[in-house]
Amino acid sequence: MRVFVTGVAGFLGSHLADALIAEGVEVAGCDSMLGGDAANIPADCEFHEIDCTDRVAMQRAIGNASVVYHCAATAYEGLSVFSPTTVTQNITQATVATLTAAIAAGVERFVFCSSMARYGTQDVVPFVETMTPKPQDPYGIAKVAAEDLIRNLCDVHGLDWVIVVPHNIVGRRQKYDDPYRNVISIMANLMLQSRRPYIYGDGEQRRCFSHIDDVVEPLARLTTEASVVGEVINLGPDREFVTINDVAARLAEMIGVPLDPVYVDARPQEVRLANCSADKARRLLGYQPHRSLDDALDDVVRFIRQRGTKPFRYHLELELETEATPATWRRRLF
Ligand SMILES: NC(=O)c1ccc[n+]([C@@H]2O[C@H](COP(=O)([O-])OP(=O)(O)OC[C@H]3O[C@@H](n4cnc5c(N)ncnc54)[C@H](O)[C@@H]3O)[C@@H](O)[C@H]2O)c1
Repeated sequence: MRVFVTGVAGFLGSHLADALIAEGVEVAGCDSMLGGDAANIPADCEFHEIDCTDRVAMQRAIGNASVVYHCAATAYEGLSVFSPTTVTQNITQATVATLTAAIAAGVERFVFCSSMARYGTQDVVPFVETMTPKPQDPYGIAKVAAEDLIRNLCDVHGLDWVIVVPHNIVGRRQKYDDPYRNVISIMANLMLQSRRPYIYGDGEQRRCFSHIDDVVEPLARLTTEASVVGEVINLGPDREFVTINDVAARLAEMIGVPLDPVYVDARPQEVRLANCSADKARRLLGYQPHRSLDDALDDVVRFIRQRGTKPFRYHLELELETEATPATWRRRLF
């Protein structure tokens, strides 16, 4: 079986490709290298440096693959209200072009990585898949638009589709010099340089974090699993619902520095309470996370220590610099 993974130089895409290759699957993939890292691409993966918005090149690269995992995206929720063009282009536009290429190439199954941002603010947590999406920012809106396009085109053209909703994945290979995302990696990179971490708002916003291994294992099973076709499935833990303050305290203790965060203004549209029910994943996939939040934090700290701390790279344009744009980005405080 040939499987095509988009965003294969990125965090999730590269770990997924590794897992599929370990199972004996033939894996090809692409990445535009907008993010990601060439060192992440598995040696046994056929690699194409292509932008997913290039439909014709994508069709050629997908070739005779039977499954496409679409992991490529500009996964920048907080930034998306300040760089909406870049974020929506690499989510909605990239998805429709990838899907069109996949259908034309004769692919049988399309697996899409959506995001918890699809839920936005709901009246209750945890979020369940039957809730009507109420995304609060261009990132979530772009993911919901991409989901709608997938349902529509797959149903018309007879492809199996699966929409997975991962959330706050943490682990080795996650970028830690990107000032626009990955709160844990940013804080660890700063603390390991004996610098103070920044916390948006009062730090009492709550999240559940997923260890990368606990996401990849069930994700890799979606190539053939029959029960998941036509389903939206949350893929992440619903336990250890922690505050950002708690995460910062655990990291400081692990690294051995005093906890001394700088509190800055809350980011616009940031959802205060966000976690997803894993009941459906447990029912359909026997989902059972094995790695704790402390395991994930430990992996990140070890990874950064191994690679060395890095200065932050402000590699994406801030399309909108207004009063609402966080000072951390306008004044490049990280
Ligand atoms: N990491 C998380 O916590 C998380 C949570 C929820 C959802 N997701 C989703 O999972 C997927 C993978 O996320 P990740 O954390 O691995 O991100 P990542 O940034 O590490 O990987 C994404 C990759 O996509 C590539 N890319 C971006 N636009 C592209 C384009 N137009 N064409 C080709 N390649 C392109 C980037 O270069 C990058 O290597 C994304 O769809 C993201 O929205 C991630």
